[in-house]
Amino acid sequence: MSVTAVVGGQWGDEGKGRVVDLLGQDADLIIRFNGGANAGHTVMNELGTFKMHLVPCGIFNPRATVVIANGVMLDLEVLATELNEIIAAGVDVENRLLISPRCHVVMPYHKLLDGLCEEAKGAQSIGTTRRGIGPAFADKVSYNGIRLADMADDDVFRDKLETQLLLKNKLLEALGGEALDADEILTTYRERYQALVPFICEPFDIIQEAMAGGRRVLLEGAQGAMLDTDWSAYPYCTAASPLAGASAAGAGIPPTRLDDIICVVKAYSTRVGNGPLPTELHGEQGDALREAGQEYGATTGRPRRCGWFDAEVVRFTCTLNGATELALTRLDVLDNFETLRISTGYRLDGQPVSYVACDVRMLERCEPVLEEHAGWKCPTVDVRSFGDLPAAAQSYVERIEELIGVPIKTVCVGPEREQRFSRA
Ligand code: IMP
Ligand code: MG
Repeated sequence: MSVTAVVGGQWGDEGKGRVVDLLGQDADLIIRFNGGANAGHTVMNELGTFKMHLVPCGIFNPRATVVIANGVMLDLEVLATELNEIIAAGVDVENRLLISPRCHVVMPYHKLLDGLCEEAKGAQSIGTTRRGIGPAFADKVSYNGIRLADMADDDVFRDKLETQLLLKNKLLEALGGEALDADEILTTYRERYQALVPFICEPFDIIQEAMAGGRRVLLEGAQGAMLDTDWSAYPYCTAASPLAGASAAGAGIPPTRLDDIICVVKAYSTRVGNGPLPTELHGEQGDALREAGQEYGATTGRPRRCGWFDAEVVRFTCTLNGATELALTRLDVLDNFETLRISTGYRLDGQPVSYVACDVRMLERCEPVLEEHAGWKCPTVDVRSFGDLPAAAQSYVERIEELIGVPIKTVCVGPEREQRFSRA
């Protein structure tokens, strides 16, 4: 019996994909419950390197069933491309992939409005991925969304789309864009919908039966807690909750069913898009970290902002998620640093302050309290046990564990599946 959630404990891009790929080897059911094609999970395995946006990374375990649950915002174009890529690589998806008919769909106007709004906002823009996520979730909660199920009926789909275009074309034109044509969208989306029909199936009973039957269920989160709409530095967030608890609404998992919550965190911090990043490194050190970690967005290719490990934030996100364990990724990226720093907390106007007591304007002014650590200056990519890590790396990991108060049970030292080890 086990239901395990894998969630991000920072600003996304923590390496959840590889952790799910790994744990997914032993899982029976793998469920993606939040986010959309704004997410980019990089997975490297014997079949190649894949940038997954919508299909759960667990698809690479041929014995597992994977679910795109109702909480996921579907981009049918991205999904089609992704499915083609994994099928071409030899992955059998037939009878193994289920897509909830409750999923809302990103429409062309969502993507256009995402971009036009960001541009109109100028300096106030938040740096979205421009995948239409904000506008699509806004439509979902304001009763304007179009669900996969709506596309099953041609008349329903046409009616819904025409109503939306009545509203959206006004907005598009007012923002300097062009009005969209219903017929064109209907043709393309009906075709995309038809291609997905074999996978569309309400997964609720299958999920409940799997849990009741003691099957191993893995919940794959997207993004990270620091992008949660409520608990991050609003409005520098994403439109859906990346917390383990969001799996209740996003996949129909009762909160009492969660057994393990694995918070995945990088050995340092990165953020893509705007908003506070108190431990950010500007200049040479930030560039060194970005180059060492090849920190460029999997979805947009944007350079990620880099900084030291922020224990204040991770302590908070682990509490918020109810993390039962941590997976620490990308330790190897720090291999060549002479000295490292960890932020143990924040100060504002000279006084200690907690993350949760700060609003966005305060967070922008917070100073991290930095603690210095000796670097280890040698490669860790071939290390396969904690005891074989250089002493300085061991104490770096142990210090993070002590500051967070949650056991680090997995350490990753490279992108390949085997570049990792467990700690008791
Ligand atoms: P949106 O989700 O595209 O609306 O973007 C909102 C914010 O969340 C922006 O700062 C994005 O860069 C960030 N974001 C969204 N998805 C991801 C992700 O998967 N990894 C990292 N940042 C993300
Ligand atoms: Mg990512």
